[in-house]
Amino acid sequence: MDKVADEKTMCAIDARVVSCTPICREHVVVEMALPGFPTSEAGQFVQLLCRSAHVAEPTGCDWPPDGFPSLSDKDLRDRQAFLRRPFSIADQWTTRDGSVHLCVMARVVGTGTRWLAQLQPGDTLNLTGPLGRGFRIPPPDVPLVLLGGGVGIPPLIYLTRRLSELGRRDVTVIIGARTRELLPVRLIDKPDEDGRPCACVKYPGGGRFDTIVASDDGSVGMRGLVTDALRAWHERRPSRNQNAVVCACGPAGMLKAAAVLTRELGLACQLCIERNMGCGLGTCLSCVVRARDDKQPQGWRWALACSDGPVFERDDLLDYGPDVGV
Ligand SMILES: Cc1cc2nc3c(=O)[nH]c(=O)nc-3n(C[C@H](O)[C@H](O)[C@H](O)COP(=O)(O)OP(=O)(O)OC[C@H]3O[C@@H](n4cnc5c(N)ncnc54)[C@H](O)[C@@H]3O)c2cc1C
Ligand code: FES
Repeated sequence: MDKVADEKTMCAIDARVVSCTPICREHVVVEMALPGFPTSEAGQFVQLLCRSAHVAEPTGCDWPPDGFPSLSDKDLRDRQAFLRRPFSIADQWTTRDGSVHLCVMARVVGTGTRWLAQLQPGDTLNLTGPLGRGFRIPPPDVPLVLLGGGVGIPPLIYLTRRLSELGRRDVTVIIGARTRELLPVRLIDKPDEDGRPCACVKYPGGGRFDTIVASDDGSVGMRGLVTDALRAWHERRPSRNQNAVVCACGPAGMLKAAAVLTRELGLACQLCIERNMGCGLGTCLSCVVRARDDKQPQGWRWALACSDGPVFERDDLLDYGPDVGV
C-alpha cells in the first residue's frame, strides 16, 4: 500500500501526471501532483516506476507441446523497464491547496524514458523518494556557481528555486550543451555570445540569476565548454570569486574537467554523479564508487552513489563515472 511519510523520511506513492512536455529535442518535463511528499534537497532524486504498476496475468499464452510458448498479451510481449529508474528532482513546490508538485526532466534514451515521454495528463506514475544526499548550501556570504552540462542541468534548476527562497543573490549559473536543440531550459532572452552573465533563462519561482550559456557548436551563447565559461568567469573577478563554491552536475567527462579546473583555481566544488542504480536505497550495491578514506590502509573505500551521494565533495571522489577516473 502507498505510504505517505512524515516531513523527513522517504515514501513510495502514486503521483498524478499533470503534464508531460518536450523542452528540447531529447528531454521531456514531467510534472506530477501528489497529496504529500517530504521536503527534498536539490540534488536528491526519485526512483520512477517507468511502466504500468498493473502486472498483466498471462491470458493469451499459446504453448504447443513440441514448441516454445508464445505470448499474445501486449503487456507481456512488450519490452518493459522492470527496475525503477533514477531521476533528479528538477523542481518541487506546494500549492495553496496543500498538494505537492514535483518535476523531473528526462532525456529519452531507452525503454523507461520512452514510456515516460508518452505519459498523458491524468496518468498515474509510481515513485519512491526523496533519495540520496543533495547539495550542501554554503553560508550566505559565499558566492555560488551552478555548473551544468546537458543531462546534469535538472538538479541545478531545482537548486535555483531553493536559492531564491533563501534570498541568495550572489549566484552565477553556467549551463551548456552540445547544441541549442539539446539545451533543456526555457530561454527568455538571447544569451550573450561573449559569455557574459545575463538574465536569459526562466527559472522556477521567478528567480533571476546571472547566467552564462555555452554550446560546443556556438549555436547558443558562447562557443565552448562550460568549464571554459567557468574559467572566463573567474578571470573576470578573480579576487571576488576566489571563495566561491561550485556545484556541478553533468556527464562524467565534464565532472572530471570541473574537478581539475576548480582545483587549479582553488575553488571548493561539489559534484553530483550518475551511476546505474538498481534500488536507489543502498541495498543492491550496483552503484559503488571509490571514495577517499584516509583511515583505510589503501586510502579509499567503496561508497554508494545512491545513499552516500549522489552529491559528493570533489576531494572525496576517486572516480567520476564509467571509464573516467581521477
Ligand atoms: C541519481 C541519478 C539522477 C539522474 N537524473 C536524471 C535526470 O534528471 N534526467 C535524466 O534524463 N536522466 C537522469 N538520470 C539517468 C537516468 O536514470 C537514465 O537515463 C535512465 O535510467 C535510463 O532509463 P531507460 O530505461 O530509458 O534506458 P535503458 O534502456 O535502461 O538504457 C539506455 C541507456 O541509459 C543508461 N542507463 C540505464 N539505466 C541507468 C541508470 N539507472 N542510471 C544511469 N544510466 C542509466 C544505460 O547505460 C544505457 O546507455 C539519472 C541517474 C542517476 C543515477
Ligand atoms: S542503487 Fe542499490 S545500492 Fe545504490
